[in-house]
Amino acid sequence: MSSTPLKVAVTGAAGQIGYSLLFRLASGALGDRPIELRLLEIEPALKALEGVVMELDDCAFPGLAGVKIGSDPNEIFDGVNLALLVGARPRGPGMERGDLLSANGAIFTAQGKALNAVAADDVRIGVTGNPANTNALIAMTNAPDIPRERFSALTRLDHNRAISQLAAKTGTPVTEIKKMTIWGNHSATQYPDLFHAEIAGKNAAEVINDQAWVEDYFIPTVAKRGAAIIDARGASSAASAASATCNAARDWLNGTPADDWVSMAVVSDGSYGVPEGLISSFPVTTSNGDWSIVQGLEIDDFSRAKIDASTAELAEERQAVTELGLI
Ligand code: NAD
Ligand code: LMR
Repeated sequence: MSSTPLKVAVTGAAGQIGYSLLFRLASGALGDRPIELRLLEIEPALKALEGVVMELDDCAFPGLAGVKIGSDPNEIFDGVNLALLVGARPRGPGMERGDLLSANGAIFTAQGKALNAVAADDVRIGVTGNPANTNALIAMTNAPDIPRERFSALTRLDHNRAISQLAAKTGTPVTEIKKMTIWGNHSATQYPDLFHAEIAGKNAAEVINDQAWVEDYFIPTVAKRGAAIIDARGASSAASAASATCNAARDWLNGTPADDWVSMAVVSDGSYGVPEGLISSFPVTTSNGDWSIVQGLEIDDFSRAKIDASTAELAEERQAVTELGLI
């Protein structure tokens, strides 16, 4: 393992997710390698961010090698190995994530360009800010010199939500649930697919044996969990989103176990009929910082229709940001 600190950029660092994420990163969520944090905020939030940095200092984290803050992406992204793009306006009650396209899209053109200009050659970019898939598409398109495989949008929170629902339904520890898949968009059209998942080594659909529960409870509960949290908390999920952002980055950099996979929204190569070039969630394995889409899964008519509906929404979002001149 390298002892040179991993340079990790976090945008929107003074926000809700940032307040949880920074402390997880600094306390070793990515592994034992020390990290240097590069925190990007808009000018008016820098004072609040200074306060967060005081708190980071006060934790005396042994693995935190340095912190730099600022509002210029070209300075903050300089030489970064990992960029976690969180900064974006969250939705409020009654909004869909897609409603944020025009509000948030422009952030990702500027940040894509800056990453293209100054990030390290090995940079990996994870997008949490919503609408995450299409924001990742915008950043990727605006960073033509960075390989497209280095961009990913967060569907790990949905993946974790799906595991948690299945664990609760079956009284099984979460560690016994493997091979969960989220397909498509991080939106209400996403398809949490338990047909290939395993519970203690057995096929999850066979263990559950209740299609009505899958269709009427499991899928909508996972897909609409973000809205349920906004209703209950009056603000969008933050600690769980930070936790999932850490999980996703750790597994991307360090690899997935041989008997499992994770869900990541990555650029489609046409696998499973997902139109090429969309950033869509797939089952993936990772190794040495690279991901591969799990191939050869059987997709029945029910799953096919769900995947198609979500990827159709992604194609519409791509069309909308094309018309907005963002890609
Ligand atoms: P927040 O409003 O608390 O924080 C967002 C921060 O981003 C603010 O501090 C703001 O100043 C900053 N910001 C805005 N424009 C910026 C820019 N150009 N550069 C740098 N920083 C900028 O919001 P939050 O609750 O932390 O959520 C952040 C985003 O994450 C939202 O879009 C939210 O919908 C999304 N989210 C995604 C998931 C997921 O699973 N993908 C889960 C939860 C939340
Ligand atoms: C979530 O899934 O909790 C986030 O994407 C926030 C939201 O708008 O739902």
